[in-house]
Amino acid sequence: MQLQGKHIVLGITGSIAAYKAALLCRLLRTAGAEVQVVMTPLSKEFITPLTMATLSRRPILVEFFDPENGAWNSHVSLGEWADLLLIAPATANTLAKMAGGVADNLLLTTYLSARCPVAVAPAMDLDMYAHPATQQNLQTLRERGVRIVEPAEGELASGLTGKGRMAEPDAILRFTEELLAASEKKKSLNGRRFLVTAGATIEAIDPVRFISNHSTGKMGYAIAEELAARGADVTLVSGRTVLPVPEGVRRVEVLSAEEMYRASVEAFGGADGAVMCAAVADYTPDRVSECKIRKGDGELLLRLRRTRDIAAELGAVKGGRILVGFALETHDEEAHAEEKLARKHFDFVVLNSLRDPGAGFRGDTNKVTFIDARGHEALPLLPKSEVAARIADRIERLLAAE
Ligand code: CTP
Repeated sequence: MQLQGKHIVLGITGSIAAYKAALLCRLLRTAGAEVQVVMTPLSKEFITPLTMATLSRRPILVEFFDPENGAWNSHVSLGEWADLLLIAPATANTLAKMAGGVADNLLLTTYLSARCPVAVAPAMDLDMYAHPATQQNLQTLRERGVRIVEPAEGELASGLTGKGRMAEPDAILRFTEELLAASEKKKSLNGRRFLVTAGATIEAIDPVRFISNHSTGKMGYAIAEELAARGADVTLVSGRTVLPVPEGVRRVEVLSAEEMYRASVEAFGGADGAVMCAAVADYTPDRVSECKIRKGDGELLLRLRRTRDIAAELGAVKGGRILVGFALETHDEEAHAEEKLARKHFDFVVLNSLRDPGAGFRGDTNKVTFIDARGHEALPLLPKSEVAARIADRIERLLAAE
């Protein structure tokens, strides 16, 4: 009875997969949840309100108000009541409206006013699912924190075969249980303080040019956001990035490796641990030219000197605190990561290889392997937010073992 007492608003939209919502509703109720069904007008053509009301043991809601007696169905109080808004099936049309903020039915207004986690289980034909418009809408929703229950591959109602079939009700149930368990864990890092470094450093050559790298900071920002969502007090020491400050996170903006070093040492004092995600320049110009360097005919030699290794320096003074490192490698990945684990006194290293498609810079996914003194754990390709959650889980386990 993992969902005992949980309040779930089950949104149903106009897809042939609406028939599966009946089974899903029963599974949710059997698992102990209270289910309030909200249907879009078109979905009533696919499954009857009578069926859903009987299975959920509550009158279903479709309209903003009851035309008979004028009773108002408040989307705001529905959004407040819910521990989860689960839209299954979610059509391409509803996903597009959610992404665009359209509010032309009760389900959409409930979505816009919901403060609880939101999950959608897309259901549509394979071409509609693969269409760039749908993919972009899903991406927009993902970036706003909506959880997507990936559709399955298989035969579709159209007779075609491909990806687009709504996930099976038991898979959606498992997803729901995991999601709600994770949101309960939210405050598990209350009272803990963490430093996260993220993004690329900038080493000035002259007032115009600099040396930097391709890091966007997405992975580090996702980690800071996840730790803060679990209740931690997070200082994010960030190199240059275009990303907004994650909710509840204190950001300290820096440029050079030296500035990042100073801000990190300060934030590490009094912290329970640090996650070193920044792509820090290993070398910086020996001297910064005060004036713009003019071009000449011959070669230009830049003399570079080593910067300080922030992670190694924190590792040397960490004591019982947690230190998590990253390793971005292009060859001999695991051997290099193991060497960094030992040399920088990391509790574990998050290894990503530039050889893996979908891993590393810029993207919203990452494929990582955790490496610690006990061994290796390779994860599949996951959204960076999910990788951040796995890192936070590991940190929690280390804190619990203290
Ligand atoms: N790191 C750091 N300060 C530096 C360099 C790296 O804090 N000056 C941290 C990174 O944030 C990351 C880890 O150390 O957590 C590994 O960084 P990486 O550049 O891959 O390793 P290096 O020690 O620089 O080794 P190499 O350049 O030989 O790969």
